[in-house]
Amino acid sequence: MAYLNENYLKLKAGYLFPEIGRRVRAFCDGNPEASKRLIRCGIGDVTEPLPSAVVSAMHRAVDEMGVRDTFKGYGPEQGYEWLRAAIAENDYRAHGLEVADDEVFVSDGSKCDCGAILDILGDQNRMAITDPVYPVYVDTNVMAGHTGEADAAGTYAGIHYLPCTEANGFIPEPPAEAVDVVYLCSPNNPTGAAANRAQLEAWVAYARRHGSLILFDAAYEAYITEPGIPHSIYEVPGARECAIEFRSFSKNGGFTGVRCAFTVVPKTLMARTRGGEARPLHPLWLRRMTTKFNGVSYIVQRGAEALYTAEGKAQVRALVEHYMGNARVLVAGARDAGLKVLGGVNAPYIWVGAPKGVTSWQAFDKILGEANVVITPGSGFGGNGEGWFRVSAFNSRANAEEVARRLKALRW
Ligand code: MLT
Repeated sequence: MAYLNENYLKLKAGYLFPEIGRRVRAFCDGNPEASKRLIRCGIGDVTEPLPSAVVSAMHRAVDEMGVRDTFKGYGPEQGYEWLRAAIAENDYRAHGLEVADDEVFVSDGSKCDCGAILDILGDQNRMAITDPVYPVYVDTNVMAGHTGEADAAGTYAGIHYLPCTEANGFIPEPPAEAVDVVYLCSPNNPTGAAANRAQLEAWVAYARRHGSLILFDAAYEAYITEPGIPHSIYEVPGARECAIEFRSFSKNGGFTGVRCAFTVVPKTLMARTRGGEARPLHPLWLRRMTTKFNGVSYIVQRGAEALYTAEGKAQVRALVEHYMGNARVLVAGARDAGLKVLGGVNAPYIWVGAPKGVTSWQAFDKILGEANVVITPGSGFGGNGEGWFRVSAFNSRANAEEVARRLKALRW
Protein backbone atom coordinates (compact mmCIF):
# COMPACT_ATOMS: atom_id res chain seq x y z
CA MET A 1 0.00 0.00 0.00
CA ALA A 2 1.25 3.48 -0.81
CA TYR A 3 2.23 5.91 1.94
CA LEU A 4 0.42 9.20 2.33
CA ASN A 5 1.80 12.62 3.20
CA GLU A 6 1.27 12.58 6.95
CA ASN A 7 1.72 16.32 7.14
CA TYR A 8 -1.85 16.62 5.87
CA LEU A 9 -3.03 14.82 8.99
CA LYS A 10 -1.70 17.72 11.07
CA LEU A 11 -4.06 20.21 9.40
CA LYS A 12 -6.75 21.59 11.68
CA ALA A 13 -10.36 20.91 10.62
CA GLY A 14 -11.19 21.98 7.08
CA TYR A 15 -9.80 24.96 5.28
CA LEU A 16 -11.73 27.88 6.78
CA PHE A 17 -14.06 28.62 3.86
CA PRO A 18 -15.23 25.05 3.21
CA GLU A 19 -15.88 24.83 6.96
CA ILE A 20 -18.01 28.00 6.86
CA GLY A 21 -19.78 26.62 3.79
CA ARG A 22 -20.61 23.43 5.69
CA ARG A 23 -22.10 25.38 8.62
CA VAL A 24 -24.10 27.64 6.31
CA ARG A 25 -25.52 24.64 4.43
CA ALA A 26 -26.54 23.06 7.73
CA PHE A 27 -28.26 26.32 8.74
CA CYS A 28 -30.08 26.60 5.41
CA ASP A 29 -31.23 22.96 5.53
CA GLY A 30 -32.67 23.52 8.99
CA ASN A 31 -34.13 26.97 8.24
CA PRO A 32 -35.50 27.01 4.69
CA GLU A 33 -37.42 30.29 5.18
CA ALA A 34 -34.48 32.19 6.69
CA SER A 35 -32.18 30.79 4.04
CA LYS A 36 -34.14 32.76 1.39
CA ARG A 37 -32.92 36.04 2.88
CA LEU A 38 -29.34 34.88 3.38
CA ILE A 39 -26.65 37.41 2.37
CA ARG A 40 -23.09 36.18 1.99
CA CYS A 41 -20.31 38.46 3.24
CA GLY A 42 -18.01 35.58 4.11
CA ILE A 43 -15.52 34.58 1.45
CA GLY A 44 -14.08 37.54 -0.44
CA ASP A 45 -15.56 36.58 -3.77
CA VAL A 46 -16.47 39.24 -6.31
CA THR A 47 -20.10 39.65 -7.34
CA GLU A 48 -20.05 42.17 -10.19
CA PRO A 49 -19.76 41.07 -13.83
CA LEU A 50 -16.47 41.20 -15.73
CA PRO A 51 -15.46 44.57 -17.21
CA SER A 52 -16.76 44.86 -20.79
CA ALA A 53 -13.19 45.46 -22.04
CA VAL A 54 -12.31 41.99 -20.76
CA VAL A 55 -15.43 40.39 -22.20
CA SER A 56 -14.74 41.84 -25.67
CA ALA A 57 -11.07 40.81 -25.57
CA MET A 58 -11.97 37.29 -24.54
CA HIS A 59 -14.61 37.04 -27.29
CA ARG A 60 -12.00 38.10 -29.83
CA ALA A 61 -9.58 35.52 -28.44
CA VAL A 62 -12.21 32.76 -28.67
CA ASP A 63 -12.76 33.69 -32.31
CA GLU A 64 -9.00 33.46 -32.95
CA MET A 65 -8.97 30.00 -31.41
CA GLY A 66 -11.68 28.91 -33.81
CA VAL A 67 -9.63 29.69 -36.93
CA ARG A 68 -6.69 27.56 -38.12
CA ASP A 69 -4.41 30.53 -38.84
CA THR A 70 -4.80 32.14 -35.43
CA PHE A 71 -5.36 29.03 -33.31
CA LYS A 72 -2.94 28.63 -30.38
CA GLY A 73 -1.83 25.46 -28.66
CA TYR A 74 0.43 25.52 -25.61
CA GLY A 75 1.60 29.00 -24.72
CA PRO A 76 4.73 29.93 -22.77
CA GLU A 77 4.34 28.44 -19.27
CA GLN A 78 5.36 31.72 -17.63
CA GLY A 79 2.86 33.79 -19.64
CA TYR A 80 2.70 35.44 -23.06
CA GLU A 81 5.29 38.15 -23.53
CA TRP A 82 2.68 40.80 -24.34
CA LEU A 83 0.94 40.26 -20.99
CA ARG A 84 4.19 40.18 -19.02
CA ALA A 85 5.19 43.43 -20.74
CA ALA A 86 1.82 45.08 -20.03
CA ILE A 87 2.11 44.13 -16.35
CA ALA A 88 5.72 45.24 -15.93
CA GLU A 89 5.06 48.50 -17.75
CA ASN A 90 1.74 49.50 -16.18
CA ASP A 91 2.06 48.14 -12.64
CA TYR A 92 5.74 48.91 -12.12
CA ARG A 93 7.75 50.93 -14.64
CA ALA A 94 4.98 53.54 -15.05
CA HIS A 95 5.40 54.14 -11.30
CA GLY A 96 9.17 54.39 -11.49
CA LEU A 97 9.77 50.84 -10.26
CA GLU A 98 12.32 48.65 -11.94
CA VAL A 99 10.73 45.34 -12.98
CA ALA A 100 11.73 43.62 -16.22
CA ASP A 101 9.15 41.82 -18.34
CA ASP A 102 10.81 38.46 -17.70
CA GLU A 103 10.68 38.96 -13.94
CA VAL A 104 6.88 38.66 -14.20
CA PHE A 105 5.41 35.14 -14.12
CA VAL A 106 1.76 34.82 -15.10
CA SER A 107 -0.22 32.17 -13.23
CA ASP A 108 -3.72 30.99 -12.44
CA GLY A 109 -3.87 32.57 -8.99
CA SER A 110 -2.02 34.07 -6.05
CA LYS A 111 -3.29 31.37 -3.72
CA CYS A 112 -1.64 28.80 -5.98
CA ASP A 113 1.58 30.82 -6.21
CA CYS A 114 1.78 31.44 -2.46
CA GLY A 115 1.65 27.68 -1.97
CA ALA A 116 3.83 26.74 -4.92
CA ILE A 117 6.65 29.11 -3.97
CA LEU A 118 7.62 26.65 -1.24
CA ASP A 119 8.84 24.30 -3.99
CA ILE A 120 11.89 26.49 -4.52
CA LEU A 121 12.65 27.18 -0.85
CA GLY A 122 14.57 24.91 1.48
CA ASP A 123 12.77 22.90 4.12
CA GLN A 124 15.11 24.18 6.82
CA ASN A 125 13.83 27.78 6.54
CA ARG A 126 12.39 29.32 9.67
CA MET A 127 9.05 30.74 8.55
CA ALA A 128 7.45 33.84 10.07
CA ILE A 129 3.72 34.20 9.58
CA THR A 130 1.33 36.76 11.01
CA ASP A 131 -1.50 35.94 13.36
CA PRO A 132 -4.22 36.51 12.17
CA VAL A 133 -3.37 35.43 8.65
CA TYR A 134 -4.72 34.35 5.27
CA PRO A 135 -4.82 30.61 6.15
CA VAL A 136 -3.11 29.48 2.94
CA TYR A 137 0.34 30.59 4.17
CA VAL A 138 0.09 28.40 7.26
CA ASP A 139 -1.61 25.39 5.72
CA THR A 140 0.79 25.13 2.77
CA ASN A 141 3.71 25.12 5.20
CA VAL A 142 2.03 22.40 7.21
CA MET A 143 1.51 20.36 4.03
CA ALA A 144 5.16 20.85 3.09
CA GLY A 145 6.26 19.44 6.44
CA HIS A 146 7.66 22.71 7.76
CA THR A 147 5.82 22.49 11.07
CA GLY A 148 5.20 20.21 13.97
CA GLU A 149 1.75 19.47 15.34
CA ALA A 150 -0.82 22.14 16.22
CA ASP A 151 -1.76 22.71 19.85
CA ALA A 152 -5.34 23.06 21.07
CA ALA A 153 -5.38 26.71 19.98
CA GLY A 154 -4.33 25.74 16.45
CA THR A 155 -0.79 27.10 16.82
CA TYR A 156 1.77 25.02 14.95
CA ALA A 157 5.15 24.19 16.41
CA GLY A 158 7.96 25.38 14.17
CA ILE A 159 6.25 28.53 12.84
CA HIS A 160 7.38 31.88 14.14
CA TYR A 161 4.12 33.76 14.63
CA LEU A 162 4.08 37.54 14.30
CA PRO A 163 1.31 38.86 16.52
CA CYS A 164 -1.05 41.38 14.96
CA THR A 165 -3.32 43.00 17.47
CA GLU A 166 -5.29 46.15 17.99
CA ALA A 167 -2.25 47.52 19.85
CA ASN A 168 -0.04 47.43 16.74
CA GLY A 169 -2.88 48.29 14.38
CA PHE A 170 -2.75 44.71 13.06
CA ILE A 171 0.55 45.48 11.30
CA PRO A 172 3.33 43.02 12.22
CA GLU A 173 6.65 44.26 13.51
CA PRO A 174 9.98 42.63 12.64
CA PRO A 175 10.91 40.15 15.38
CA ALA A 176 13.99 40.48 17.57
CA GLU A 177 15.39 37.19 16.25
CA ALA A 178 16.32 36.19 12.70
CA VAL A 179 13.82 34.33 10.53
CA ASP A 180 14.48 33.16 6.97
CA VAL A 181 11.14 33.73 5.25
CA VAL A 182 8.40 36.23 6.16
CA TYR A 183 4.88 36.39 4.72
CA LEU A 184 3.46 39.90 4.58
CA CYS A 185 0.07 40.78 3.12
CA SER A 186 -0.76 44.44 2.57
CA PRO A 187 -3.49 45.61 2.26
CA ASN A 188 -4.24 42.80 4.61
CA ASN A 189 -6.60 39.95 4.34
CA PRO A 190 -8.31 39.51 6.79
CA THR A 191 -7.89 42.71 8.83
CA GLY A 192 -7.96 45.34 6.08
CA ALA A 193 -4.90 47.03 7.65
CA ALA A 194 -2.34 48.46 5.21
CA ALA A 195 1.35 48.93 6.03
CA ASN A 196 2.74 52.42 5.54
CA ARG A 197 6.10 53.19 3.98
CA ALA A 198 8.01 53.34 7.29
CA GLN A 199 6.63 49.95 8.31
CA LEU A 200 7.64 48.35 5.01
CA GLU A 201 11.04 50.04 5.18
CA ALA A 202 11.55 48.44 8.58
CA TRP A 203 10.76 45.03 7.08
CA VAL A 204 13.08 45.49 4.10
CA ALA A 205 15.87 46.66 6.42
CA TYR A 206 15.26 43.61 8.62
CA ALA A 207 15.27 41.24 5.64
CA ARG A 208 18.49 42.69 4.28
CA ARG A 209 20.16 42.54 7.68
CA HIS A 210 19.30 38.88 8.16
CA GLY A 211 19.31 37.68 4.55
CA SER A 212 15.60 36.91 4.87
CA LEU A 213 13.11 36.60 2.05
CA ILE A 214 9.84 38.57 2.16
CA LEU A 215 6.87 36.96 0.42
CA PHE A 216 4.74 40.03 -0.21
CA ASP A 217 1.11 39.41 -1.06
CA ALA A 218 -0.31 42.53 -2.72
CA ALA A 219 -3.52 40.96 -4.06
CA TYR A 220 -5.56 43.91 -2.73
CA GLU A 221 -3.29 46.78 -3.79
CA ALA A 222 -5.98 48.24 -6.10
CA TYR A 223 -8.05 49.02 -3.00
CA ILE A 224 -5.55 51.43 -1.47
CA THR A 225 -7.21 54.84 -1.15
CA GLU A 226 -4.86 56.64 1.22
CA PRO A 227 -1.88 58.46 -0.25
CA GLY A 228 1.47 57.31 1.07
CA ILE A 229 0.54 53.63 1.39
CA PRO A 230 2.92 51.67 -0.88
CA HIS A 231 1.22 49.64 -3.61
CA SER A 232 4.29 47.45 -4.11
CA ILE A 233 7.10 46.25 -1.86
CA TYR A 234 9.45 47.40 -4.63
CA GLU A 235 8.64 51.01 -3.72
CA VAL A 236 11.06 50.43 -0.86
CA PRO A 237 14.68 50.68 -2.03
CA GLY A 238 16.47 47.38 -1.55
CA ALA A 239 13.34 45.24 -1.88
CA ARG A 240 14.53 43.78 -5.19
CA GLU A 241 17.23 42.02 -3.17
CA CYS A 242 14.85 40.52 -0.61
CA ALA A 243 11.26 40.24 -1.83
CA ILE A 244 8.94 38.30 -4.11
CA GLU A 245 5.61 40.01 -4.85
CA PHE A 246 2.30 38.26 -5.55
CA ARG A 247 -0.49 40.07 -7.35
CA SER A 248 -3.81 38.97 -8.72
CA PHE A 249 -6.51 40.00 -11.18
CA SER A 250 -9.11 38.33 -8.96
CA LYS A 251 -10.12 41.29 -6.91
CA ASN A 252 -9.38 44.23 -9.24
CA GLY A 253 -10.63 42.73 -12.52
CA GLY A 254 -13.21 40.38 -11.01
CA PHE A 255 -11.24 37.30 -12.10
CA THR A 256 -11.94 34.98 -9.15
CA GLY A 257 -13.70 32.59 -11.53
CA VAL A 258 -11.60 33.42 -14.59
CA ARG A 259 -8.25 32.78 -12.87
CA CYS A 260 -5.22 34.91 -13.62
CA ALA A 261 -2.51 36.38 -11.40
CA PHE A 262 1.20 36.99 -11.45
CA THR A 263 4.30 36.77 -9.31
CA VAL A 264 7.37 38.99 -9.59
CA VAL A 265 10.71 37.33 -8.90
CA PRO A 266 13.54 39.85 -9.37
CA LYS A 267 16.69 38.49 -10.95
CA THR A 268 18.65 40.22 -8.19
CA LEU A 269 17.04 38.08 -5.49
CA MET A 270 19.31 35.44 -3.98
CA ALA A 271 18.95 32.64 -1.49
CA ARG A 272 21.64 30.32 -0.20
CA THR A 273 22.46 26.68 -0.59
CA ARG A 274 23.07 24.46 2.43
CA GLY A 275 26.74 25.08 1.82
CA GLY A 276 26.24 28.85 2.09
CA GLU A 277 26.54 29.74 -1.60
CA ALA A 278 24.24 32.57 -2.78
CA ARG A 279 22.19 31.59 -5.86
CA PRO A 280 19.39 33.47 -7.68
CA LEU A 281 15.82 32.29 -7.15
CA HIS A 282 14.60 33.48 -10.57
CA PRO A 283 15.89 30.46 -12.57
CA LEU A 284 14.44 28.09 -9.99
CA TRP A 285 10.99 29.64 -10.26
CA LEU A 286 11.22 29.58 -14.05
CA ARG A 287 12.20 25.91 -13.87
CA ARG A 288 9.35 25.18 -11.50
CA MET A 289 6.80 26.94 -13.71
CA THR A 290 7.96 25.27 -16.90
CA THR A 291 7.97 21.84 -15.27
CA LYS A 292 4.78 21.87 -13.20
CA PHE A 293 2.56 24.33 -15.05
CA ASN A 294 1.33 24.70 -18.61
CA GLY A 295 0.37 28.33 -18.47
CA VAL A 296 -2.88 30.27 -18.24
CA SER A 297 -5.16 29.93 -21.26
CA TYR A 298 -4.63 32.31 -24.16
CA ILE A 299 -8.22 33.55 -23.87
CA VAL A 300 -7.82 34.44 -20.20
CA GLN A 301 -4.48 36.18 -20.77
CA ARG A 302 -6.06 38.31 -23.51
CA GLY A 303 -8.77 39.20 -20.99
CA ALA A 304 -6.14 40.19 -18.41
CA GLU A 305 -4.28 42.27 -20.99
CA ALA A 306 -7.49 44.23 -21.63
CA LEU A 307 -7.43 45.42 -18.00
CA TYR A 308 -4.46 47.59 -18.97
CA THR A 309 -6.21 49.43 -21.81
CA ALA A 310 -7.60 52.90 -21.05
CA GLU A 311 -11.11 51.44 -21.11
CA GLY A 312 -10.08 48.51 -18.90
CA LYS A 313 -8.37 50.76 -16.37
CA ALA A 314 -11.48 52.96 -16.09
CA GLN A 315 -13.66 49.87 -15.61
CA VAL A 316 -11.35 48.49 -12.91
CA ARG A 317 -11.52 51.84 -11.12
CA ALA A 318 -15.32 51.70 -11.27
CA LEU A 319 -15.37 48.16 -9.86
CA VAL A 320 -13.03 49.08 -7.02
CA GLU A 321 -15.06 52.20 -6.25
CA HIS A 322 -18.22 50.12 -6.18
CA TYR A 323 -16.81 47.67 -3.62
CA MET A 324 -15.21 50.44 -1.56
CA GLY A 325 -18.59 52.22 -1.55
CA ASN A 326 -19.98 49.03 -0.01
CA ALA A 327 -17.13 49.05 2.51
CA ARG A 328 -18.11 52.56 3.61
CA VAL A 329 -21.75 51.50 4.01
CA LEU A 330 -20.72 48.46 6.07
CA VAL A 331 -18.29 50.42 8.23
CA ALA A 332 -21.00 52.98 9.01
CA GLY A 333 -23.57 50.25 9.72
CA ALA A 334 -21.28 48.36 12.11
CA ARG A 335 -20.27 51.58 13.87
CA ASP A 336 -23.91 52.62 14.24
CA ALA A 337 -24.46 49.22 15.82
CA GLY A 338 -21.93 50.25 18.46
CA LEU A 339 -19.24 47.88 17.24
CA LYS A 340 -15.55 48.62 16.93
CA VAL A 341 -14.54 48.70 13.25
CA LEU A 342 -11.15 48.66 11.52
CA GLY A 343 -10.27 48.21 7.86
CA GLY A 344 -12.53 49.14 4.95
CA VAL A 345 -10.34 52.13 3.97
CA ASN A 346 -7.55 50.51 1.93
CA ALA A 347 -9.13 47.09 1.57
CA PRO A 348 -12.52 45.56 0.76
CA TYR A 349 -12.67 43.91 4.18
CA ILE A 350 -13.96 45.37 7.38
CA TRP A 351 -12.65 43.95 10.62
CA VAL A 352 -15.19 44.17 13.41
CA GLY A 353 -14.72 43.63 17.13
CA ALA A 354 -17.46 41.45 18.62
CA PRO A 355 -19.03 42.84 21.80
CA LYS A 356 -17.06 42.04 24.95
CA GLY A 357 -17.23 38.38 25.94
CA VAL A 358 -18.55 37.23 22.55
CA THR A 359 -16.24 34.89 20.65
CA SER A 360 -15.79 35.04 16.89
CA TRP A 361 -17.77 31.84 16.29
CA GLN A 362 -20.51 33.00 18.68
CA ALA A 363 -20.73 36.20 16.64
CA PHE A 364 -20.82 34.10 13.46
CA ASP A 365 -23.71 31.99 14.80
CA LYS A 366 -25.68 35.00 16.03
CA ILE A 367 -25.24 36.98 12.81
CA LEU A 368 -26.11 33.93 10.71
CA GLY A 369 -29.05 32.88 12.89
CA GLU A 370 -30.60 36.29 13.58
CA ALA A 371 -29.45 38.54 10.72
CA ASN A 372 -29.09 35.73 8.16
CA VAL A 373 -25.77 37.18 7.09
CA VAL A 374 -22.62 35.11 6.58
CA ILE A 375 -19.43 36.68 7.92
CA THR A 376 -16.04 35.12 8.61
CA PRO A 377 -15.05 34.48 12.23
CA GLY A 378 -11.75 36.18 13.03
CA SER A 379 -10.50 33.23 15.06
CA GLY A 380 -10.49 31.19 11.84
CA PHE A 381 -7.55 33.35 10.77
CA GLY A 382 -5.55 32.71 13.95
CA GLY A 383 -5.66 33.07 17.73
CA ASN A 384 -5.28 36.86 17.63
CA GLY A 385 -8.40 37.05 15.47
CA GLU A 386 -10.47 35.78 18.39
CA GLY A 387 -13.17 38.28 19.31
CA TRP A 388 -13.20 39.75 15.80
CA PHE A 389 -15.04 38.99 12.60
CA ARG A 390 -14.49 39.95 8.97
CA VAL A 391 -17.20 41.33 6.70
CA SER A 392 -16.47 41.23 2.99
CA ALA A 393 -17.53 44.24 0.93
CA PHE A 394 -17.78 42.15 -2.24
CA ASN A 395 -21.49 42.40 -2.89
CA SER A 396 -24.20 44.42 -4.59
CA ARG A 397 -24.87 47.85 -3.07
CA ALA A 398 -28.39 46.77 -2.14
CA ASN A 399 -27.02 43.80 -0.20
CA ALA A 400 -24.37 45.92 1.54
CA GLU A 401 -27.09 48.38 2.63
CA GLU A 402 -29.31 45.57 3.84
CA VAL A 403 -26.43 44.01 5.80
CA ALA A 404 -25.71 47.38 7.42
CA ARG A 405 -29.40 47.63 8.43
CA ARG A 406 -29.45 44.10 9.83
CA LEU A 407 -26.22 44.60 11.80
CA LYS A 408 -27.74 47.74 13.34
CA ALA A 409 -30.90 45.86 14.29
CA LEU A 410 -29.04 43.07 16.13
CA ARG A 411 -29.33 43.07 19.91
CA TRP A 412 -26.30 41.43 21.52
C1 MLT B 1 -10.89 35.32 1.28
O1 MLT B 1 -12.09 35.40 1.44
O2 MLT B 1 -10.08 35.40 2.21
C2 MLT B 1 -10.37 35.19 -0.10
O3 MLT B 1 -11.38 35.27 -1.01
C3 MLT B 1 -9.73 33.92 -0.29
C4 MLT B 1 -8.85 33.95 -1.51
O4 MLT B 1 -8.65 34.98 -2.12
O5 MLT B 1 -8.35 32.88 -1.78
